[in-house]
Amino acid sequence: MGIKKLQHCILLVLLSMAISANGKDIATESQALENWLKAHCSPQQNLTKLRLYVRDIFSAPIKSNQVVASANSTFTSPTLFGLVAVIDDPITVGPGFGSQVLGQAQGLIVFSSLEKISLHMSLTLVFTSGPYNGSSLNLVGHNPYLEDLRRVPVVGGTGVFLLAQGVTLIHTVSSNSSGDYVFQYNVYILHY
Ligand SMILES: *[C@@H]1O[C@H](CO)[C@@H](O)[C@H](O)[C@H]1NC(C)=O
Ligand SMILES: *[C@@H]1O[C@H](CO)[C@@H](O)[C@H](O)[C@H]1NC(C)=O
Ligand SMILES: *[C@@H]1O[C@H](CO)[C@@H](O)[C@H](O)[C@H]1NC(C)=O
Ligand SMILES: *[C@@H]1O[C@H](CO)[C@@H](O)[C@H](O)[C@H]1NC(C)=O
Repeated sequence: MGIKKLQHCILLVLLSMAISANGKDIATESQALENWLKAHCSPQQNLTKLRLYVRDIFSAPIKSNQVVASANSTFTSPTLFGLVAVIDDPITVGPGFGSQVLGQAQGLIVFSSLEKISLHMSLTLVFTSGPYNGSSLNLVGHNPYLEDLRRVPVVGGTGVFLLAQGVTLIHTVSSNSSGDYVFQYNVYILHY
């Protein structure tokens, strides 16, 4: 039965061949996730894995990450509790500045812990170019962004990703003194 499932659970495109700085950890973790998903997907589902990069830009005149709300106590809180920002970050094929843009990661990040710096994130990956143009994916969940690897659930999608379920491994690839960040998103999606 397991073998039948594997035959039907077709593995689709992996975008980009770029290698992350901490490639080993994310590679090991990605492989483990992929094996788990292959073993658990139903015969009707396709498993698609995407390697994407998301750039958070503070250096540009129009920042792609903007604070929109805070509580009175946010800036005296050691965890910035209550800070809410809206993001509209480019999704690219590779980690480099000027890499081909596939769409935008749009949504909210909320500093939502009193005890430890971490985010609640609600993002839509909106694809506007490339093989997934016109489709979107919804990521919602806990993102303790100071950790090397975070796992944020994929809870839905549109287009080819209709009824998607899955998980995204997020790793911070780099940051610079202007405050720009580059994140790697290894997205594993079960869909039909
Ligand atoms: C926040 O601070 C402002 C200005 O000090 C004050 O007027 C307001 O009542 C405070 N709000 C809360 C919820 O404490
Ligand atoms: C993406 O799809 C839209 C709608 O079908 C189309 O107008 C646009 O040209 C496509 N963009 C690219 C870069 O393929
Ligand atoms: C899923 O895989 C089947 C082949 O088994 C294919 O016909 C179908 O188009 C795939 N669906 C998507 C969304 O790629
Ligand atoms: C940080 O990266 C951005 C590109 O995302 C670049 O425009 C900026 O000049 C960089 N800043 C520094 C200090 O290297």
